[in-house]
Amino acid sequence: MQTLMGAVNKDVQFIGLDNSDAMLGRARTRFERIPNRRWQLHNVELNEGFPFENASIVVVNLTLQFVRPLYRDTLIHHLHAGMRDGGCVILVEIILGNDSLFNRTFIKLYYEMKKRNGYSEMEISRKREELENVLIPYRVEENYKLLRKGGFQHIDMFYKWYNFCFV
Ligand SMILES: C[S@@+](CC[C@H](N)C(=O)[O-])C[C@H]1O[C@@H](n2cnc3c(N)ncnc32)[C@H](O)[C@@H]1O
Repeated sequence: MQTLMGAVNKDVQFIGLDNSDAMLGRARTRFERIPNRRWQLHNVELNEGFPFENASIVVVNLTLQFVRPLYRDTLIHHLHAGMRDGGCVILVEIILGNDSLFNRTFIKLYYEMKKRNGYSEMEISRKREELENVLIPYRVEENYKLLRKGGFQHIDMFYKWYNFCFV
C-alpha cells in the first residue's frame, strides 16, 4: 500500500471506507507516513449503501463478502452509479467453489498457511467461529451476476489463489 500510494500522481485522492474504527486507525497510520497525499477515511456501514461519486478505481478488498446478501445489489448499484467513465472496480472475495472437495482442501491449505505464519490452533478456530454466518461467500457466477445486474458490462477474473478470487 505504501509503495502504491507513494508512486501515484499527487492529485489522486484516496478514500477509505470501513465500519471498524480499529481498521480505519490502521489505515490512518499508513496514510500519515506518506507526505503530500490527499486522503479521507470514513466510518461507513456498507449495508446501508454508499453514495460513491467520481470514482476512478474502487478496490473492494475482502469486504463485499461481509455485506448482507440482501444489501449487496444496492451497494453494487451505488458503486456503478458513482464510477467515472473508463473507471474500474477490483473486487477481491473469498468464493465458494463448485466442488466440495476443492472447497474443503482450499480451506485446509489456507489454515495450514496461517499456522506456518504463527497463528495458533486456538486463534484459527476462534476466527473461524467469528466468521461463521458473518462472512457469506458467493460463487464466482453469483458475483458476476451481481456485477452485471448493477450495470457493469466488462467483467473477468484476473487472479485466483485457492478460494480467493480477484475480479
Ligand atoms: C478482511 S477485512 C478487509 C479490510 C480492508 N478492506 C483491507 O483491504 O485490508 C474486512 C473488512 O470489512 C469490514 N466490514 C465488514 N462488514 C462491513 C460493513 N457492513 N460495512 C463496512 N465495512 C464492513 C470489516 O470491518 C473489515 O475491516
